[in-house]
Amino acid sequence: MLVIRNIGELVIYPAGRIRGRAMSAGDTLPSAALCVDGERIVWFGPQEQLKAPVDAEVLDAGGGCVVPGLVDCHTHTVFAGTREEEFVQRIEGRSYAEIAERGGGIRNTVEAVRRATCEELVALALPRLERMLRNGVTTLEIKSGYGLTVEDELKMLEAVRRLKALQPIELVGTYLAAHTTPRDFADRPDAYLDLVLADDVLAGIRDRGLAEFCDVFCERTAFHVEQARRVLEAGRRFGLAPKVHADQITQIGATRLAGEVRAVSADHLEKIDDEGTAALNEAGTVAVLLPGCSFFLGVPQAPARRLIEAGLPLAVATDFNPGSSMIESLPLVLHIACTQCRLTPTEALVAATANAAAALHRETRVGAVQVDMQADLVVLDVPNHRRWMYESGRNCVRAVVKKGRVVVSPPA
Ligand code: NIG
Ligand code: FE
Repeated sequence: MLVIRNIGELVIYPAGRIRGRAMSAGDTLPSAALCVDGERIVWFGPQEQLKAPVDAEVLDAGGGCVVPGLVDCHTHTVFAGTREEEFVQRIEGRSYAEIAERGGGIRNTVEAVRRATCEELVALALPRLERMLRNGVTTLEIKSGYGLTVEDELKMLEAVRRLKALQPIELVGTYLAAHTTPRDFADRPDAYLDLVLADDVLAGIRDRGLAEFCDVFCERTAFHVEQARRVLEAGRRFGLAPKVHADQITQIGATRLAGEVRAVSADHLEKIDDEGTAALNEAGTVAVLLPGCSFFLGVPQAPARRLIEAGLPLAVATDFNPGSSMIESLPLVLHIACTQCRLTPTEALVAATANAAAALHRETRVGAVQVDMQADLVVLDVPNHRRWMYESGRNCVRAVVKKGRVVVSPPA
């Protein structure tokens, strides 16, 4: 048994997707303790009621706050190369879309990923995952989408599969072959989709457990709505649940599509309209905001408060990628969600735990401190979660527990 004692504030809310205003209704327990048996939380309550076996392993929280392990539900953590030239071009006035239209953007990373071996992709991603764990992330989604040939897309997913065994974060693969049309298929997007959506390719991904979700970048510079529908329907036939990069740069009806196909999540939403909001609400789709991306690109944020008022379950993720969000720290992104999107610290925390878990079909197992939930926990060196969101420039994580095991130890 593992006992966490001397907790200054234990943050508690129900497991499962939390909609709209209920996102700010979390509870806190002061002077608390928590017991873990095997992989699960078996008890929590006031410290004075703690009854633990004498041989239990003890983790002293040092008066710090304890929260559920963070879930980063939208990332592109497997990649090669960097794109600082585009960063400079944007500072000089060129937009993300213009750079993509001139053949740059995603396609630059594609060249670097095609040149890399699977082993090299693993070696590049591993230190990123180690830093993410130290920032409190215990579950992480990773998309393909920088290979853009069947072989290179599978190489990326294979890298994700290998990374699962090399470090403690639970990784979730997403097939994003429909990220953009590769250069060699410039005017033939449908012919490209024929290849990456072939039955044997999708069956192989399913049978080897390489991905759980199928994603598409539905945007003027990538795939239009009917192409995106085709991608998501093909994925679903092989057990890959739909996700959509929707309404990021232009409004072409991507969020309406997300509702129609009953997507698990619709992500980005900077340009979402009322019709799209209603469609997501109707379908129970999780609205995933990526405030680090708008911050990084220097463009307006998604209308977070409007989506909360509409009653949607909101999640927040890093979108960590070399082009539009070279930010691997989810705590920093949560700070941005607070200051730029006006989420309260409690809403931001719910967005990156319970609701992010729902965006990955894991809400009954992770994302909240509840008896019988998996013991994925973060011990902070600050007394409450508001202080964590406020102290944005420093890592406030003292220890991390994954599946009941201490995987980041407190300083001696
Ligand atoms: O989520 N929007 C599309 N895809 C990524 C960016 C990928 C890139 O620029 O490399 C995103 O922002
Ligand atoms: Fe993305």
